[in-house]
Amino acid sequence: MPDFQKSIDSIYKEVLESPDSSTVASYIPELASVESSKFGIHLIDTNQHNYAAGNSGEKFSVQSISKVLTLSMALGLIGEKIWRRVDVEPSGDPFNHLSLLEQENGIPRNPLINAGAIVIADILVTELENPKEDFLTYVRNLADDTSISYDEKVALSEKGTGFKNYAAANLLKSYGNLRNDVEDVLDFYFHQCSLSMSCKQLCDTFYLFMNRGRCKRDIGYLDINQIKRINALMLTCGFYDEAGEFAFEVGLPGKSGVGGGIVALLPNEFCVATWSPGLNKKGNSARGMQALERLTTMTELSIF
Ligand code: DON
Repeated sequence: MPDFQKSIDSIYKEVLESPDSSTVASYIPELASVESSKFGIHLIDTNQHNYAAGNSGEKFSVQSISKVLTLSMALGLIGEKIWRRVDVEPSGDPFNHLSLLEQENGIPRNPLINAGAIVIADILVTELENPKEDFLTYVRNLADDTSISYDEKVALSEKGTGFKNYAAANLLKSYGNLRNDVEDVLDFYFHQCSLSMSCKQLCDTFYLFMNRGRCKRDIGYLDINQIKRINALMLTCGFYDEAGEFAFEVGLPGKSGVGGGIVALLPNEFCVATWSPGLNKKGNSARGMQALERLTTMTELSIF
């Protein structure tokens, strides 16, 4: 195994020294106030050894990273039936695009674009007794950390400006692919996106995707084939219209969020999370992508 701490320390220094032309997401007003200079990286290996640098313990808004967690919860609850309501193809479009949804009769391209995640949210609203509480408990159990919470201010802020998500939910409803009320489903969706977590907590939570479906406490949540599917979706769809670039530069399944977080993993080896709020033109963390490219190049560890 490479010396992860040494690699992370050198990446941290290199990334902070390089020029930065990224911008913090502002379409959700509450996200615009986050300090752009923050940068953290955390890595956990299969032996649960931790390596970190920078603001890796500071919480931020995980946003779309939560879509992997709702997908895993829904897959655990209803299994393969999920794929009747959402496809598994990359869209090549930005996360909030709607044109394909019309063209494809209300079946979202994949569960990691907004329309697909809204269908998954609808499934959880149907299946769970107390959807928001139960989902939060699921994430806390995965991470073995009860301090993980929603950020109500962020959820409210997105509700006030989430016009495209309302459009997506209404389109889904018109095609019969949304069972519950638009308001109820979006309230759940805005809350899942508002989850506030640190890079360390993301690594703890995503540990199961690296560890064949078993969480840090060695409890089985999903089987190996379900994990294969989720990791395949992260690789092909986790970065929207930059999924190819992420596979090309980094070579790991991963997921980004407009809060500036990225989590990625090498099955049976390690899980890594970065946070830097400045986004590139495709809406993915610029420094996060740079750091992860350096990590897999330096350590020569990627799925390829
Ligand atoms: O629905 C939205 O627009 C946000 N809550 C999440 C977007 C997001 O993080 C896209 N991923 N990079």
